[in-house]
Amino acid sequence: MKNNDKETTNEQIMTESAAEPTLMVGVHLRSEVDPRFTLEDSLQELALLAETAGLETVGEVTQNLSAPNSRTYVGKGKLDEIKLLADELDAKIILFDDELSPRHQRELEKELGDSKRVIDRTALILDIFAQHANTREGMLQVELAQYRYRLPRLTGAWTHLTRQTGGASGRSGAVGGVGLRGPGETQLEVDRREIKKKIVKLEDELDKVREHRNRHRQQRRKSNIPVVALVGYTNAGKSTLLNKLTNADIYVADQLFATLDPTTRQLELPSGETVLLTDTVGFIQKLPTDLVAAFRATLEEIVEADLLIHLVDASHKNAQSQRLTVLETLEEIGATDIPILTVYNKIDLLNPAEIEDLHKIAEPNSVFISALTGEGLSELAEAIAVGTYQTFVHVKVKLPYSEGRLVSLMHEKGHVRDMQHLEDGILIDGMLPRQLLASFEAYRI
Ligand code: GTP
Repeated sequence: MKNNDKETTNEQIMTESAAEPTLMVGVHLRSEVDPRFTLEDSLQELALLAETAGLETVGEVTQNLSAPNSRTYVGKGKLDEIKLLADELDAKIILFDDELSPRHQRELEKELGDSKRVIDRTALILDIFAQHANTREGMLQVELAQYRYRLPRLTGAWTHLTRQTGGASGRSGAVGGVGLRGPGETQLEVDRREIKKKIVKLEDELDKVREHRNRHRQQRRKSNIPVVALVGYTNAGKSTLLNKLTNADIYVADQLFATLDPTTRQLELPSGETVLLTDTVGFIQKLPTDLVAAFRATLEEIVEADLLIHLVDASHKNAQSQRLTVLETLEEIGATDIPILTVYNKIDLLNPAEIEDLHKIAEPNSVFISALTGEGLSELAEAIAVGTYQTFVHVKVKLPYSEGRLVSLMHEKGHVRDMQHLEDGILIDGMLPRQLLASFEAYRI
């Protein structure tokens, strides 16, 4: 694990000691229209997430429901079954595959008793994020998301959190005093107030870090080097690809969300041109939108990119469902205008017949690679060059006479279709490489 020097906090799901026996609970809601991931797929993924967080799944309980039980999410009979099985398997953690409402969480904790912890998919993902955040911004984002998640869920049973030594980043600053078990409502109110204060402070800190980062981004934009963002379902191989292409030493692991913070590297293409390649957080199904929003920093990298490389793990049985989930998330964050290059990875794991089938269903211009063996990487570099340097955008600009430099640039790098010398400037209608747009932005009409 990365960050293993980090202080362990009480709310961390993972413990330093042996993996916690965990019982998974999955509900198939008949009202759910999205049949993309079956309950079985979803639980398999949950098991992988649990393993990444250092938990050991020892069993699972499933139920088909038309709607969740308003009090305990699962029905009464199912809850009894969970209790029995958890005791039998000595499971200390009961892990729900869906996000539980604060009420569900409270009632389940009451029903299952003190010896069991109730955790949902969101809390688990947040925990993994906390383990993998590396930069200051990443840590602040996770800590903020954790507090926001926790605030409405704070109950008497949660007052053990008051012993904590810090949030996700392991920084000090206890939430409301000491005491293993809170002395009732009052302590709860203190905790809530403290958390609210913490949230405001974290938002403040994040704003400052972001200002700094925006300045960097503006400088980068001025350099006119196109930015290529790697997006993909978690574990698709984004870090491996970035490493392979740029020899960057980025953490790669067969774990979910090994990468949380955006990492940007310069990549020289065989054509001699340069692009900036940035790795982003992996996407996953059932990632709540507000959690996605919490990782604005990483997502901003995506929204501002000139080209998106959408990496798909071609060897995964749900490759197409994962691809659609990523496309949906891109839509959610407003990254719809950016050209997407679909890249199918891990083809070393496919046999020739499977590769042939993949070619048949893949969208035109897709690239097929193995980030591990390097196969297909020269085609990828070529496609990146085409997608960035050879993508021209139609523009109309009125350049003041004082901007002779831009007039020359337009002639050198773009295609001028029409040019008129007016009294107050030069009117140009033409095509510009996408990455030069920023320099002309102020003069566009
Ligand atoms: P997140 O950080 O979770 O978003 O993951 P990621 O998309 O950055 O994936 P990462 O590069 O960490 O790779 C995940 C796993 O897939 C690792 O075990 C890699 O070694 C493996 N992997 C990546 N590319 C290939 C490939 O082309 N072939 C094979 N066989 N394995 C690959």
